[in-house]
Amino acid sequence: MIPVADPSAQVKALRPAIDAAIATVLDSGRYVLGAQVAAFESEFAAYLGTAWSAGVGNGTDALHIALRALNVGVGDEVIMPSMTATATGTAVLQCGATPVFVDLDASTRTMDPIAVERAVTARTKAIIAVHLYGQPCDLDALLAIGRTHNIPLIEDCAQSHGARYRGQRLGTFGVLACFSFYPTKNLGAIGDGGAVAGSDAALLTRVRLLREYGWSTRYHSTHEGWNSRLDELQAAILRVKLPHLDDDNARRRAHAARYQQQLQGRGLTLTLPVERADSEHVYHLYAVETPYREVLMRHLAARGVGSMVHYPLAIHQQLAFAPYAPAGGLPVTERLAQQTLSLPMYPQLTREQQEAACAAMLDFEEPR
Ligand SMILES: Cc1ncc(COP(=O)(O)O)c(C=O)c1O
Repeated sequence: MIPVADPSAQVKALRPAIDAAIATVLDSGRYVLGAQVAAFESEFAAYLGTAWSAGVGNGTDALHIALRALNVGVGDEVIMPSMTATATGTAVLQCGATPVFVDLDASTRTMDPIAVERAVTARTKAIIAVHLYGQPCDLDALLAIGRTHNIPLIEDCAQSHGARYRGQRLGTFGVLACFSFYPTKNLGAIGDGGAVAGSDAALLTRVRLLREYGWSTRYHSTHEGWNSRLDELQAAILRVKLPHLDDDNARRRAHAARYQQQLQGRGLTLTLPVERADSEHVYHLYAVETPYREVLMRHLAARGVGSMVHYPLAIHQQLAFAPYAPAGGLPVTERLAQQTLSLPMYPQLTREQQEAACAAMLDFEEPR
């Protein structure tokens, strides 16, 4: 079966360097928040082109800590898309704040700025821009709304490591940016990991304090805090992988171009991804839309081609988030939840595997 994602393929390619990195950590005797984490934090910040990054336990914690660093709490509203990993909503609930879900632009599948503007109230404390599937949001418009209403923008870059908007890396536009290093991500660890990035030094101090018990110095908690630290092992492995991120993203983009060339205009009722102009999508996922999703998935599986759904339910459609479902629903989001289908997409996907996936797509007979 050709998988949708294959994190082990990359580990295999980098195995000697990863083994050496692991041995260095084992010998160091320091296993949490040590020299490897500090080095990764500065290398990752330099890669992004921002002042700092701070390692945390996972992407959900990165969002939670970023929101807390901006003092988001009970009674506050956070504007966000509903078509994203549940984690984005979870982080808002962890603060006791209210997620305010807005719809997407149907073409780019990122938050519709007009809907965001309409959702702003006196209680709005933050906007979370999720660069879904690796596609940059309409940052000019979102930042303009933030400036007008004095609301900070947080970027959720869990699916968009290395992507660019008008030549500039994602993660450098919002006041804070959050990353997940879950193994399948474009930059993935071999377990959980995450980071918050930013340019404001005072916010770095807050993020560091919040990730470790609210300590301002060891054993002195001056604030309420949590425990969300990055392991040395994960940081050391991320340091091996980071120099390959741009190459990996270029390979993902080449795979996307091949899907586009093979699947466009071939008589299937299929909506392929549309890249925002002046931007660089990094195809964490290659998500198409089809009204025949369930039959197509079975057809692909029978031909050894994996596919997955990201996501079968938008956040507001899930039980835990029912109190926050917008009254009129979110038509674009809900249609995407019914029709989206992710095809195999990872850097080491071979030409033969992709040809097989395309051939299976093209011999699908749509139900009448
Ligand atoms: C858009 C988005 N935000 C947040 C997260 C949460 O990251 P993690 O799984 O590392 O907590 C993920 C990954 O699952 C994600 O895809």
